[in-house]
Amino acid sequence: MNAFRNLIVKKWSSDVRLDGKTAIVTGANTGIGKETARDLAKRGARVILACRDMAKAELAVSEIVKDVGIANVVPCKLDLADTKSICEFAEHVYNSETAVHFLINNAGVAICPYSTTADGYEMQFGVNHLGHFFLTFLLLDLLKHSAPSRVINLSSITHSMGKIHFEDLNSEKSYHPVRAYVQSKLANILFTRELARKLEGTGVTVYAVDPGIVNTDMTRHMKSSLQMFVKAFSFLIRTPAEGAYTTLYCALTPDLLSGGYYRNCAQAECSRAASDDRTARNLWVVSCHLLGIRWR
Ligand SMILES: NC(=O)c1ccc[n+]([C@@H]2O[C@H](COP(=O)([O-])OP(=O)(O)OC[C@H]3O[C@@H](n4cnc5c(N)ncnc54)[C@H](OP(=O)(O)O)[C@@H]3O)[C@@H](O)[C@H]2O)c1
Repeated sequence: MNAFRNLIVKKWSSDVRLDGKTAIVTGANTGIGKETARDLAKRGARVILACRDMAKAELAVSEIVKDVGIANVVPCKLDLADTKSICEFAEHVYNSETAVHFLINNAGVAICPYSTTADGYEMQFGVNHLGHFFLTFLLLDLLKHSAPSRVINLSSITHSMGKIHFEDLNSEKSYHPVRAYVQSKLANILFTRELARKLEGTGVTVYAVDPGIVNTDMTRHMKSSLQMFVKAFSFLIRTPAEGAYTTLYCALTPDLLSGGYYRNCAQAECSRAASDDRTARNLWVVSCHLLGIRWR
């Protein structure tokens, strides 16, 4: 069984140290984000756990500190479903940090019943794509000032089932939870491509990651039959620490291709829709329009 498992989950390790570096990890109170934050803290980085629930964030901070010993980890309020909260978070970062070397856009909501963000966007498109798009826009000057720096966007292999529904981005005409999730994960890769193109020569590089199938709280909105399936096959499914491998690989490995899509700690092929530069540009323009920002 172990040999079979090793085929699915490529082991990865690195002894790179991150003393003097600062990282922001969104959705770091649980799952892949918490393990990413723990690993970065072990390497000596200062890590900001950007979470919507401060009680959960503080619990995660104490757990990491207990595990790592001397750790520079701080919780900070960030609700990606509210542009006001994103602005307040960015303002706090500019006031408290002199540099940010890693922005890890990890938080995500998956396959949930229909709801909208504080600004009226469909929740999965709003949090997974627009929230992180806006956050990156606001932090970009600091990332450029801190170069070399990296932006890592958590996507998913399920992006290959996705399409950008420009005629109904916010699922106002019809809503299907899976359709909205895979659209948002496709948007994560298209954003990565276009951002990398725009940032050429700045020292800020950008990567999209599929973490694999990981045993986390992500199934919280899914049917209990699917949750039971995940439990039954959990020996084949990655632990949250294993789910963080490809994110960490993209954060720590030198000379990776900016704008690329990575899975299982290697560059991978994404779907044809995810490699379409015209769609990437259109999505960029529409996202700026929805958020009321100018970002060329
Ligand atoms: N698990 C997998 O198999 C898998 C596969 C492919 C891709 N991914 C991607 O990997 C990323 C991490 O997922 P995970 O599996 O670790 O899921 P998870 O355990 O459910 O963690 C998701 C995190 O996102 C946070 N979050 C949700 N809505 C937010 C908001 N409005 N503002 C700020 N934070 C918010 C959650 O906070 P709360 O705890 O407060 O809800 C939680 O910290 C996601 O982007 C997901 O799409 C996961």
